[in-house]
Amino acid sequence: MRSIFLSLLVASSAQADAQADVQADNLQTLLNQSRQAAKTLGMELKQTLQMSMKKKGPVDSISVCNMKAPEITARVSLEKNMKVARTSLKVRNPENKPDAWEENVLKDFEKRKEQGEPVKQMEYFELTKRNGENVFRYMKAIPTGEVCLTCHGENVSGLLAGKIHSLYPDDRATGFNTGDIRGAFTVTIEVQ
Ligand code: HEC
Repeated sequence: MRSIFLSLLVASSAQADAQADVQADNLQTLLNQSRQAAKTLGMELKQTLQMSMKKKGPVDSISVCNMKAPEITARVSLEKNMKVARTSLKVRNPENKPDAWEENVLKDFEKRKEQGEPVKQMEYFELTKRNGENVFRYMKAIPTGEVCLTCHGENVSGLLAGKIHSLYPDDRATGFNTGDIRGAFTVTIEVQ
């Protein structure tokens, strides 16, 4: 009797192990896909910004960010068949405002930075629920570089500040220094 009970126990724990393996595999795949999507969005935005800053200068690049950033974000989401975007605790475009889950992660990133963790590698992921659906969510911190200060720093020039204000009257995305967390890429994938 005892041995039957034991072998049942062993069988069921082996099954649980197998299930855990499958889940770990899936999780790794979802993580890789998310990392890749965030990277693609980051690279496309960076290339567009760099080219425009060089050719047109910062003031005209504002309209490029204004027009192109949402367009590129939507296209990458479509291509990857998942939601890929950028968010921040201090947003320029209100469309990029974090939801409750994202806000918690962003706050946690700030804590991790205070504890000395480098911003460049900082990421977080979780299997969770959104609007009752199972989702895999991923975020990766975006560090503030020198070039970002032109439009997100403490001393945004008058002309530039005026143009930003006319397009984004509720802009909160200034006052950053190099090394600060400017925001994060955020990826959501629906899972069964
Ligand atoms: C030419 C000005 C300009 C420069 C330089 C610039 N940005 Fe922005 N940034 C903008 C504008 C305009 C938006 C709003 C885009 C939109 O409407 O989605 C924005 C939005 C963002 C957002 C989305 C969250 C939000 O605030 O709405 C992040 C994150 C961001 N920028 C990071 C950076 C980083 C990192 C750099 C440096 C590598 C950088 N930006 C350089 C103008 C700029």
